[in-house]
Amino acid sequence: MREIPVGILGTGKYVPERRLTNQDLEQMVETNDEWIVSRTGIRERRIADPAQATSDLAYEASLRALQAAGLTADQLDLIIVATITPDMFFPSTACLLQERLGAKQSAAFDLSAACTGFIYALATATGFIKTGMYRHILVVGAECLSRITDYSDRNTCILFGDGAGAVVVGEVAEGRGFRSFVLGADGSGGELLRMAGGGSRIPSTAQSVAEGRHFLEMNGRDVFKFAVRVMGSSAEEALAKAGLGKNDIDLLIPHQANVRIIQSAMERLDLPEDKCVINLDRYGNVSSASIPLALAEAVEEGRAKEGDCLLLVGFGGGLTWGASVLIL
Ligand code: UT7
Repeated sequence: MREIPVGILGTGKYVPERRLTNQDLEQMVETNDEWIVSRTGIRERRIADPAQATSDLAYEASLRALQAAGLTADQLDLIIVATITPDMFFPSTACLLQERLGAKQSAAFDLSAACTGFIYALATATGFIKTGMYRHILVVGAECLSRITDYSDRNTCILFGDGAGAVVVGEVAEGRGFRSFVLGADGSGGELLRMAGGGSRIPSTAQSVAEGRHFLEMNGRDVFKFAVRVMGSSAEEALAKAGLGKNDIDLLIPHQANVRIIQSAMERLDLPEDKCVINLDRYGNVSSASIPLALAEAVEEGRAKEGDCLLLVGFGGGLTWGASVLIL
């Protein structure tokens, strides 16, 4: 049986207007611009308006992705939203988005793999299309991380922002599309990066809120070491699975957590800076939205063109990691 080549039909992005700069953060916690830029590469992040939730950001990015794909919402068979900051526990953000888009023929679910969520969702969508079950799948990474960030904790509040990126996945011409996926998880590291409160283990109570359990908590140093290790290894694994080498990469699109982590991946892959998309200086870490945001920007700016070999690679809470080689 012929294998269906599956790739990206259109990309879109959306970021809220409000900027939170390093100078703003200097007024909020004991930190400074020089420390933040030298340790992370981040200069500012976007923060959602109080009236906006994750599905609103997802909606804007999705409209643009659908338009770029030349499709209407009623042609979608499935919507997958990768997020760790859903509007609410349920209904899923994907169902809220389905209603908003008017995607009446579409199934919808959320996927939770933290910052690796978008790559997990791409792999899931690709599987559905390869089996012939679905034709057009909207894959979104969207986050309002500002809603789970403790702005009195300088270890975390300097890192995170809000935004959304979306793609439509479907059949593409022979020679194009996803060439490989690598997905991994190590639940033993779950405590390194998590939001412990608000679920069935620690339900929301006045006490859990007083203790700040509804905020993201992180062991930055250990996550850093893990990230450097898996970014390199999963990128190499994805290349090998695709039957390609480092020299074949036109553009690296990494998860945007820390510029030093990205630089270590570039060194391992022998890539010059102009072959890597870095936008964390403007958006910070937007978890599942960071790779699709970077991808959509690279397409908009003409840095990622049809036929280019892209390497997407990410890591995050779970712990999780993932990589994919895509011929755009
Ligand atoms: O999507 C995945 C999510 N997370 C990540 O990828 C995070 C990975 N980790 C990191 O990016 C880095 O570990 C951080 C940026 C979080 C921290 O950078 P670091 O170079 O690992 O710093 P550190 O935690 O080792 O802290 C060094 C010093 C400490 O002071 P002492 O103990 O040496 O006196 C911190 O208290 O810097 C201090 N520090 C700060 N100083 C100014 C920590 N945060 C700040 C701050 N401003 N915001």
